[in-house]
Amino acid sequence: MSRIADLWGLTSTDLEVAAGLPTWDAHPLGDAVGLAATRVLQRVLPNTEQWTRWASREEVDRELASVLGAWGAARRYTPWDGDTSDAAFARALVQGPMAPLVERRGEAFVVDVRVLAGLDRHPGTVPLGCVVTFEFVHAGADSDSKARTPAMVSIELEDGTIRRPGEGEAWEVARLIGAAGMQTWLAIGPHLVHTHTLAGGALATAAVTALGVDHPVRRLLAPHIAGTLRANDWLGKTVWGPYGTIQAVYSFPWSSVQTLIARAIAQLDRVRFDLPLDLERRGMTEASAAGDYPYGADGLLVWNAIHLYVREYLCVYYPDDAAVLADAEVQAFAALHQRLAPGLSAATLNSFARGLTAQIFAVTVHHKMVGGISLELLTHPYFLPHRVGPGETVEQVVPFREETEANLAATVGMISEGGGLTDDWASLALDEAGRAVMRAFQDDLRAVGEHIDARNLRRLVPFSHLRPSELGASVSG
Ligand SMILES: [Fe+2]
Repeated sequence: MSRIADLWGLTSTDLEVAAGLPTWDAHPLGDAVGLAATRVLQRVLPNTEQWTRWASREEVDRELASVLGAWGAARRYTPWDGDTSDAAFARALVQGPMAPLVERRGEAFVVDVRVLAGLDRHPGTVPLGCVVTFEFVHAGADSDSKARTPAMVSIELEDGTIRRPGEGEAWEVARLIGAAGMQTWLAIGPHLVHTHTLAGGALATAAVTALGVDHPVRRLLAPHIAGTLRANDWLGKTVWGPYGTIQAVYSFPWSSVQTLIARAIAQLDRVRFDLPLDLERRGMTEASAAGDYPYGADGLLVWNAIHLYVREYLCVYYPDDAAVLADAEVQAFAALHQRLAPGLSAATLNSFARGLTAQIFAVTVHHKMVGGISLELLTHPYFLPHRVGPGETVEQVVPFREETEANLAATVGMISEGGGLTDDWASLALDEAGRAVMRAFQDDLRAVGEHIDARNLRRLVPFSHLRPSELGASVSG
């Protein structure tokens, strides 16, 4: 099947499921597939009869090597100078999947996941609602260096206890709770509900429902919705639901996950994917400009390229606001999108361009941060664990074997079929004028990539995740 035929085949999916409406319980086939997927998790390593069976690190590593060979052993790599150190943890807050959640509070910076508080949990797990606080400190004795590095300050646990570095094993355990809390919320809220469903799902559903295949905006969006409805349908059948993998690998049963889905929906607004406004609201504009926060700095480069592209593309087909208002398909598209998710308006040419830019940014850059990078960092059970049990030592609270399995399943089970942002999409254009704008966008993206490469030569720790060639074009890319 050619790529273009594949793209137009998107409507074959149940739109209600794709839009993320909570109807998953009504899919008996979905339950069966979800149960099968959960069982696969338990088969990654042999002899794992019970999800709660705990094993020593040595035993797990031995079995991992015997089952997966060199590939399995190689997965135990170190993301940043010591995978379970405070420095690596703090680095993950700024350059890892948590980066889009960081907020400035006074002189400190926090990732606040108290949204997880007060919910029923699986037996044998501890509460994960917490506030993780860090600051930026000068990197070394060299007083001329402007470079700053993130350093941990404290973690406030759900019961109000505050733990700080230097408190020995109690701090190590608090750090694991913070890591599990952040990774749980990232997966459910920012990744699956916000980005897959309310950004990608709503965009794809509105586009394939309201815009004809030869509509210029449908052609503009084609790369950014490719594979989305299929991927979200798959999520509905295997990841969500009472037997889905989310409830299997995280602390919360499906009833609590449903509450978290509702909380995530309530949290999303139109600012969230509008990077300049989002940075301002989170107080991260200054840190971006200072070079402390590469997600903001590099994200803005890509944002600007997308914004310029969308504006120029729309100007080919719409000379003014009146032309946008007169396009019945565009107005129907925007109205349907507004029913599904916040953020899009076709009231003026400018607002339409900005709204589309935010949606494209969500499925490319934001998705890479909260989805792609997470998976890359799921390497060490003591780095980003899925859940934490009661106990006083690291060995007691995180089951090394089950975490290894969950990490492997999450990584191997990725859906990837949508294509990359820097693929040649120009054949989708309706005419030479549209094609020229698409090609100019690719030129701009190449320049952005070179700019990021140059920045990385100056950075204490390189951040190459937002190089355009590393980005998917849609949530399934
Ligand atoms: Fe994803």
